[in-house]
Amino acid sequence: MATATDHDEAADAETLTAGVVGASGFTGGELLRLLVGHPNVDVAQATSREYANKTVGSVHPNLRGAGLRFSDPGDLESVDVLFAATPHGVSMEQVDAFQAAADTVVDLSADFRLDTEAEYDEWYDGHVCPEYLDDAVYALPELFREDLPSADLIAAGGCNATAAILGLAPLFDAGVLDGGEQVVVDVKVGSSEGGASASKASSHAERSGVVRPYAPTGHRHEAEIEAILDTSVSFTAHAVDMVRGASATSHVFPDSPVSKGDLWTAYREAYEDEPFVRLVAGGSGVYRYPEPKAVAGTNNAEVGFELDPGNERVVVFSAIDNLMKGSAGQAVHAANVALGLEETAGLEFSGLHPVGSP
Ligand SMILES: NC(=O)c1ccc[n+]([C@@H]2O[C@H](COP(=O)([O-])OP(=O)(O)OC[C@H]3O[C@@H](n4cnc5c(N)ncnc54)[C@H](OP(=O)(O)O)[C@@H]3O)[C@@H](O)[C@H]2O)c1
Repeated sequence: MATATDHDEAADAETLTAGVVGASGFTGGELLRLLVGHPNVDVAQATSREYANKTVGSVHPNLRGAGLRFSDPGDLESVDVLFAATPHGVSMEQVDAFQAAADTVVDLSADFRLDTEAEYDEWYDGHVCPEYLDDAVYALPELFREDLPSADLIAAGGCNATAAILGLAPLFDAGVLDGGEQVVVDVKVGSSEGGASASKASSHAERSGVVRPYAPTGHRHEAEIEAILDTSVSFTAHAVDMVRGASATSHVFPDSPVSKGDLWTAYREAYEDEPFVRLVAGGSGVYRYPEPKAVAGTNNAEVGFELDPGNERVVVFSAIDNLMKGSAGQAVHAANVALGLEETAGLEFSGLHPVGSP
């Protein structure tokens, strides 16, 4: 188990070593892309059972020439930070091996995001090591930055949950909402949210062109949003014709009147110093509200809002790249904070414009 001293020593080192378990998947590939370009990190291991001994470029063509090969996850190397980009259920089974390999473990799955075994019984298929839940730090760095430097086990926030929480949290912090109001969140997501393994619903013929409500109710990220915001949320998710991106539109109905100025104050106070959150609310041009295309490939989140006084409604928009701010980028951001590195290290780049469907 890591101590504060372990973390300090890691930060003092010139270059830290990193491993990625599940490196052949979509978020694993994005982790490798970020870590290969990270100024303070060397990738020591990238695992895949299916592609062990094959070059990383044979699966992730954007990483041809990176000089990396997959190895078997049964043989974990000792590293400073280990990222687990594996399906739900794997990390909770293997957390001891992960922690034996690294002082800092960042898990991208949902295995350690919720606080209690009862929540896992309700929303998932239970938990095999609930004793870890108390100490795991949920990483939306914007909300839980202070908790990260002492964290051994970091649970990177879910993609849809990240989009929704970034949009709504400032309203709770500013007292515009107090938890008693109705909150309705509608998320549109790209196909890469489903991971690299094909399913019938993800075949090109079935997925192309859809606006498909795939989780009208009961989506597991509802639990995560409710736990972090400490409120009840009604959540619906649609699959839409994008590869990358999550766009959350949230409708809230404050009990007391709120002005546009109040909203600007709330969002500026929450995010004016945040390196990865941009306020996009009105203005001019084509992209006047948050837009997944505008953040594709980056760790940026766009957050915006509009007031609907006639209906006493505030509508909140947020857009992220699910493979970046919604997973790999968020995980690297959290690791940077945990390891005492520059927060933005390895993540300081803009996306492309113009770009086709992300
Ligand atoms: N996709 C997203 O937008 C997104 C966003 C946020 C969070 N997440 C979470 O991040 C995790 C990874 O998602 P993904 O979309 O990258 O999935 P993915 O594309 O399906 O990749 C999963 C990876 O895990 C490896 N793997 C599977 N079972 C394993 C096991 N038992 N032991 C070791 N490795 C194993 C797979 O490679 P081998 O089978 O070759 O070993 C593969 O590299 C999931 O928990 C997901 O919920 C995903």
